[in-house]
Amino acid sequence: MSLKEKFEAAGQGQVFEFFESLDGEQKRALESQLEQVDLNELERLNRELVFGGDKGAAMDFSKLKPAPYIPLPSDKTKAPEWAEAKKIGEEAIRAGRVAAFVVAGGQGTRLGFDAPKGLFKVTPVKHKSLFQVFAEKILSASRKYGVSIPWVIMTSHINDAATRAFFEENNFFGLKKEDVIFFKQGLMPAVDTNGKIILENKGKIAMTPDGHGGCLRGMVRSGAAAELKRRGIDCISYFQVDNPLINIIDPYFIGFHIKGGSEMSSKMIPKAYPLEKVGHFCMYDGKLTVVEYSDLPKEYQEKIGANGRLEFIAGSVAIHVIDRNFVERLGGGSESALPFHRADKKIPYVGADGSVVKPEKPNGIKFEMFVFDALPVAANPVIIEGARGDEFSPVKNAEGVDSPLTCKNDQKKQAARWLKRAGEKVETNPGGVPGFDMEISPLFATNEEDFVSNWGALKDKPKIENKLYIQ
Ligand code: UTP
Repeated sequence: MSLKEKFEAAGQGQVFEFFESLDGEQKRALESQLEQVDLNELERLNRELVFGGDKGAAMDFSKLKPAPYIPLPSDKTKAPEWAEAKKIGEEAIRAGRVAAFVVAGGQGTRLGFDAPKGLFKVTPVKHKSLFQVFAEKILSASRKYGVSIPWVIMTSHINDAATRAFFEENNFFGLKKEDVIFFKQGLMPAVDTNGKIILENKGKIAMTPDGHGGCLRGMVRSGAAAELKRRGIDCISYFQVDNPLINIIDPYFIGFHIKGGSEMSSKMIPKAYPLEKVGHFCMYDGKLTVVEYSDLPKEYQEKIGANGRLEFIAGSVAIHVIDRNFVERLGGGSESALPFHRADKKIPYVGADGSVVKPEKPNGIKFEMFVFDALPVAANPVIIEGARGDEFSPVKNAEGVDSPLTCKNDQKKQAARWLKRAGEKVETNPGGVPGFDMEISPLFATNEEDFVSNWGALKDKPKIENKLYIQ
């Protein structure tokens, strides 16, 4: 069967609508794009997600239970279980078993920034980009533990070239070039509300990134997983590109993950308020599951438990340690191991006259996988509690919650809190935010314990004033 016949048989013959008007090269480009489409998978996704309604609706919420987690003690340095985890984690880091992994293939439409999100400037004094902050955190850990820590970066076909160029221009922010491993995530065809593949222009179908869950198969298909294996790495520290507070190389977290024999571990943050827009760690039919705020009925989001706290308090903030073998197992099959979800989006398309139309409202459907859907199939998943102020303040929106302003304030608040812990006086508002800008370089310290000790050891302490940059 020819390619055209295959698409026609699958009810997708519209992709050839303008084929005869294309020149030879354009024809070949379209054909090579079409060859990558898995028509059987698409037929199933159309059946389940375009015509059948999302699976989330089928969940029996009365069966949901809160997921157990390891609570954060008031002083983790003094809690024996945490001290033991730290020791195990530090040994693993020193032994070179740990890599960092950021998923940076998203389109960041809510922020409305016209470049890869990792280039967005976030810090209060030096205006460092997200990528620079992460690079310095990794460099700092690699100096502390005397080991090289590879950093895997997942990009998409949209932002890959710009991302790589940014690292080249900035000399990889002091990291060794060979320790930064880029790969492009997979693509999925986008369809209209009738399940037909959208033509973006006469010679190209609309393909969109396959979601952060695409990182599992992307890592395997690109060879990044094999490269980590070659380097003896089995713990992958996973984080998102929008959160500069991330504690990337956290020995406590890595230690609990190893100690628990876990294939995929998570950090939870207690929700700040009942309807906070985060996923919820739940148990469902004995399996750990993340239920998105958009899928969980309000009464469950607000439900108060026997202890007077929110019953479903464990917010998922997309911070994980993933076992490399688990990535290879889940990402290695020909069929996707993770379910797809639908997202309704505005997708430019070619009109009947051949010109490109930019729609005002969502006209198409994109298929995405979510990384947390791997949790139900992970052996011994561990969840530990994290402190919000030291872990999580994402830049998602241009204004309001989770915006550049809230993130900057959270960085200043963290700096003030660490200084106070080190015995300094810092004027702050009742919310803990200092009224002036200051910033701590990750090369000085990436966590409170190290900050207090490094600050204590400083002979000439800088004055605590506006534009303070501790380095
Ligand atoms: P978000 O859910 O915030 O999506 O991604 P987004 O596409 O970046 O932003 P909006 O919704 O358009 O505003 C969470 C994390 O997952 C990554 C993002 O780069 C971010 O780190 N991601 C998301 C991918 O790597 N690939 C994807 O296909 C989607």
